[in-house]
Amino acid sequence: MCGIVGYAGARPALGVVINGLRRLEYRGYDSAGIAVVDGGLLMEKRAGKLASLEKALAERLAEASANPRPAAGNIASGSTGIGHTRWATHGGPTDRNAHPHRSADGRIAVIHNGIIENFAKLRSDLEGRGVTFLSDTDTECVAHLISAELANVDVESPESPVGARLGEAMRRVCLRLEGAFTLLAVDADAPGVVVGARRNSPLVVGRGRDENFLASDVSAFIEYTREATELGQDQVVTITDDGVTIMDFLGNPADGKEFHIDWDSNAAEKGGYDYFMLKEIAEQPRAIADTLLGRLTETGEVMLDEVRLSDQDLRDVDKIFVVACGTAYHSGLVAKYAIEHWTRIPCEVELASEFRYRDPVLDRSTLVVAISQSGETMDTLMALRHAKEQKARVLAICNTSGSTIPRESDAVLYTRGGPEIAVASTKAFLTQLVACYLVGLHLAQVRGIKYADEVGAVVAQLQEMSGKVDQVLDLMEPVRRLARELADAKSVLFIGRHVGYPVALEGALKLKELAYMHAEGFAAGELKHGPIALIDQGTPVVCVVPSPRGRGVLRDKIISNIQEVRARGARTVVIAEDGDEDVRSYADHLIAVPVTPTLLAPLVTTVPLQVLAAEIATARGHDVDQPRNLAKSVTVE
Ligand code: M6R
Repeated sequence: MCGIVGYAGARPALGVVINGLRRLEYRGYDSAGIAVVDGGLLMEKRAGKLASLEKALAERLAEASANPRPAAGNIASGSTGIGHTRWATHGGPTDRNAHPHRSADGRIAVIHNGIIENFAKLRSDLEGRGVTFLSDTDTECVAHLISAELANVDVESPESPVGARLGEAMRRVCLRLEGAFTLLAVDADAPGVVVGARRNSPLVVGRGRDENFLASDVSAFIEYTREATELGQDQVVTITDDGVTIMDFLGNPADGKEFHIDWDSNAAEKGGYDYFMLKEIAEQPRAIADTLLGRLTETGEVMLDEVRLSDQDLRDVDKIFVVACGTAYHSGLVAKYAIEHWTRIPCEVELASEFRYRDPVLDRSTLVVAISQSGETMDTLMALRHAKEQKARVLAICNTSGSTIPRESDAVLYTRGGPEIAVASTKAFLTQLVACYLVGLHLAQVRGIKYADEVGAVVAQLQEMSGKVDQVLDLMEPVRRLARELADAKSVLFIGRHVGYPVALEGALKLKELAYMHAEGFAAGELKHGPIALIDQGTPVVCVVPSPRGRGVLRDKIISNIQEVRARGARTVVIAEDGDEDVRSYADHLIAVPVTPTLLAPLVTTVPLQVLAAEIATARGHDVDQPRNLAKSVTVE
């Protein structure tokens, strides 16, 4: 939540920071703001999406060129700057609560992602000392505290004495803060310096030539540099055009972990699509193929990316918990079927936000699989930390290098989806499914339950899935037409069994978040225990039907469920395997997907539901990429 960008170099900071914010806007879009150091602190901030800030800046620049004032600094030319796009926590989404926040003396500007939990006490102390607050945010107190602390700091540094002072002031202030935060600050008296700090919230450094960057994630600066440094927990970083200095909160010199970004910079552009989401749906075949690329060794073993666990540790696992949120949780629900089927280890799937509060039974023979696209979801991170405190082993499935969840895990398997900008997860979901299958196969192999040739056979089936998703995408025109017909429905229900049940949940989540419609997913057998009362004449019910070649009982049961809803007036949208003629008579609308092994079917059955939700949202006039009230990366609990 909240996107943060900082720049120190030779280019005008305004352009670099606005470009970065554009790429981070998916993290929050309640308001946006920028501060540039150029002969003083120059700020502009606005409630609403980034476009409102850009409009205000354009007006300001037009006014400045019409009435030039040579002595004043210029927001368009200063080469040190910070910018922020907000998902509101403390204080509504207004101009005055937009970041940056300035210290009372006008010297320091601060932007923040996270929540400072002791801000009320800090604020009342500051007010007691006569400071007047201009916003309702928790962030503003940090600007006042840094400004006050600067008076006490005396740091000698031949390269950048003022920058060192700002870094030291930031460090001392961080020691007084509780909660989760990424902070960036600039000082009107220290042009060329940006200081950052992080605890629990994300911050990465981009290392360029004669310029350096700070950002919530690498997509903000990939058009300028591919070299990045991952900061550790509780670290302060100072960037100038030619240096990056890191220390921990105790003042000891520290190192970050350097890494190369292999994302294509065009991947963060819309590439001719109206929305990122449509582009990301279309990228799914490639994302699946990339996630599978080179996963098998010459001897047929499945490889993870980073493993700080021995094979013996994995052989000792007697229980698995998958923890995740939202769409990632749905991928975990599918994983349960595959992992239990292939490994025979009991596997529970739990919402990360609930996990640690019920005191789960964990020990060193428990494996916790944490799934997260962003690698920063606070609920998942806290579940992971709880698991580690209880000595459980943690394996992360993640899309974002340099993020916190993989860094704190014992083993990592990266999905190679590339940047996912649309708030609604699409390619993240499919690549998480692929990664879950690989984890299941790896565990089965290490434990001697599956031989290399058996694993190879499933991986070969997985490799075919990329082409099958392509086939689904080629057949989406009827789904688009159907979407226009369903756009006025009051409510849409989704039903499925076995791996079709998580698909139903995911279809409903997509529709809720994009179309703002009542939508619910049910295990089809559960319907008659209550939810069937929701069905009225014409209520659309989307039914995910398993393959006729799979487990016959399962299929017969869902066909009965479809008949039950039809008997009560439902309008059925049936997703079934190509050539499954028997279901045709139960379907008001039939969406055919390619023939696929049962466990892998979610890779194809989910895709029409993504398209359906995006198209209904478009028909209802909603912003598909940035649905109301949401943020892509949820870094608060
Ligand atoms: O970054 P994560 O995968 O940890 O995010 C988890 C959820 O917030 C995320 O999947 C969310 O549910 C999606 N926006 C849904 O489309």
